[in-house]
Amino acid sequence: MTRASASLSPPPGIPASLRWEGTSLAVLDQTALPHEISYRACDSLEAVRDAIVRMQVRGAPAIGIAAAWGLVLGMQQQAALPPDAWLAELDRGARRLASARPTAVNLAWAMNRMTIALRPLRTADTQAAIARLTDEAAAIEAEDRAICAAIGEHGMAVIPEGARVLTHCNAGALAVSAWGTALAPIYRMAALGRAVSVFADETRPVLQGARLTAWELQQAGIDVTLITDSMAAHLMARGEIDLVLVGTDRITANGDVVNKIGTLGVAVLARHFGIPFWVACPSSTWDPDTACGADVEIEERSAQEVTHLGGVPVAAPGVKVRNPAFDVTPAALVTGVITERGIARQPLASTLGTLLQPTRITAAR
Ligand code: MRU
Repeated sequence: MTRASASLSPPPGIPASLRWEGTSLAVLDQTALPHEISYRACDSLEAVRDAIVRMQVRGAPAIGIAAAWGLVLGMQQQAALPPDAWLAELDRGARRLASARPTAVNLAWAMNRMTIALRPLRTADTQAAIARLTDEAAAIEAEDRAICAAIGEHGMAVIPEGARVLTHCNAGALAVSAWGTALAPIYRMAALGRAVSVFADETRPVLQGARLTAWELQQAGIDVTLITDSMAAHLMARGEIDLVLVGTDRITANGDVVNKIGTLGVAVLARHFGIPFWVACPSSTWDPDTACGADVEIEERSAQEVTHLGGVPVAAPGVKVRNPAFDVTPAALVTGVITERGIARQPLASTLGTLLQPTRITAAR
């Protein structure tokens, strides 16, 4: 990476989350990290959907990109169908992929973008349509790289030299095609020789902070310290955190931020201790058709994620469990949102629209 411009390749030392290989999608198995770097070869729409459900690929932008390639695979395999049946299959496949995880709007957004791309060709031959779908998936992935680089550039404006940044979950290179959203400005600062350090919440129950964020920052040579989720308040109270920077799976029309479970607690703490709480995301994460966070479906995952740690049971057998995977941080607790088009500050309900509306593609419903 040069001083003048951010590279669009993944940060050094960090494997790509996804690799399109023409007739299959290689998915970095994030459930095996940090102990093993292995790729799952997904050769069908259902295999890609399964990799998303199992969180082998995770992070809002990455699951949108994976689903786009999954749709290409599915439609390649239906190429022998007559055009009408092929188009019906396209709609079914897009809905099937969009249902893999309900909370991140990027997934539905990517499916909608893929089907919209075919509108001008709806009556043409299926080979031409498959080529168009392939181009669109490649464009979504290429744009994601450029978007992350732009978020990195804009985000540096809110991170003072030497800042100690707390992040939650993983909004880094592993959650996108390269660089990340919340971690993009951190990588960019490091590349420019500016001092910055990160505290990574471990992020119970799936431990994206411990397994992914701490690992990828360490791989890239960034100063990172892993803490358990319950330690954040203590560090804030002692003045050891200068700002919070997280990603998001969806921002609703009023500016509510839906992100990994535990983000709300961090935001409440940040407000209490007078610490800025920043959110970073691409414009595809903004969902102006949903009024507020209370209207968003929050994914509930298996009890085993809570009752077990690394496959080892830690709770009484048969105990009742709740496992919501995301929570909603009210817009009022958010200092601002860093996007590829610039920074939206309060009041988010109007500033997000001014910044993002011109380029928006509606998410599929
Ligand atoms: O359940 P996950 O691991 O997919 O959740 C990911 C997050 O919550 C991220 O913060 C969000 O998707 C932003 S990723 C750039």
